[in-house]
Amino acid sequence: MSAEHKLRLGVNIDHVATVRNARGGAYPDPLRAAKLAEEAGADGITAHLREDRRHISDADIDGLMEVLTVPLNFEMAATEEMQRIALRHKPHAVCLVPEKREERTTEGGLEVAREENRLAHYIAPLRAAGCRVSIFIAADRRQIEAAHRIGAEVIELHTGAYCDAHAEGDFDTRDRELAGLREMSAYAHSLGLEVHAGHGLTYDTVQPIAALPEVRELNIGHFLIGEAIFRGLQPAIAEMRRLMDEARG
Ligand code: PXP
Repeated sequence: MSAEHKLRLGVNIDHVATVRNARGGAYPDPLRAAKLAEEAGADGITAHLREDRRHISDADIDGLMEVLTVPLNFEMAATEEMQRIALRHKPHAVCLVPEKREERTTEGGLEVAREENRLAHYIAPLRAAGCRVSIFIAADRRQIEAAHRIGAEVIELHTGAYCDAHAEGDFDTRDRELAGLREMSAYAHSLGLEVHAGHGLTYDTVQPIAALPEVRELNIGHFLIGEAIFRGLQPAIAEMRRLMDEARG
């Protein structure tokens, strides 16, 4: 498979830290999970340092920067504190996500269009420091155009609504969401943006997304960490990798 055609898998290790933090100790160690994920074929590791530090900690980010041989995709809210942390570490990629304290997970995409000016200034030093800036957005033309205008190199399309509809058995909505993701990934690609996708993906939902030719990377976490309970982390990742490659043809 050519490098241009290959779909990268970023493994999100946040929820290893969630389990660790449930008891406040050091086990299970997200860094160990990250190294195992690398060995199992992850092309990158994703970690979200939330403002409330509910899972990944500052020390986890320090450790990941030290031990990883694959790129780190550092997810964060567009705050001053996070910008300082990102500029100190200069990870391969910074993915800007919306964050609300009361949410259980990242519920929607970032409102880029409404905050275009602020975000353009916000990402400039990150880009100057050599980080690839990615913006997590809904499959929405307005948001894609705004992400393009502010100078992001990458957008990550939110697949949560597509996955939720599948889980609820609402296949009309699922198919509509998928059609939107298909159309908007092609549109973003036509503007010169690199397209990634993620949120809520499982073995049942990954293949139609993996088959979208413009999508270059999937970021998957919660399902893989859950599945690892039953089959082990490396086999769980290997199966996801296999399904992605199969869908890619
Ligand atoms: N991509 C982004 C931008 C995210 O915020 C998340 C969740 O942290 C994911 C991908 C992974 O989602 P999930 O854990 O549901 O696979």
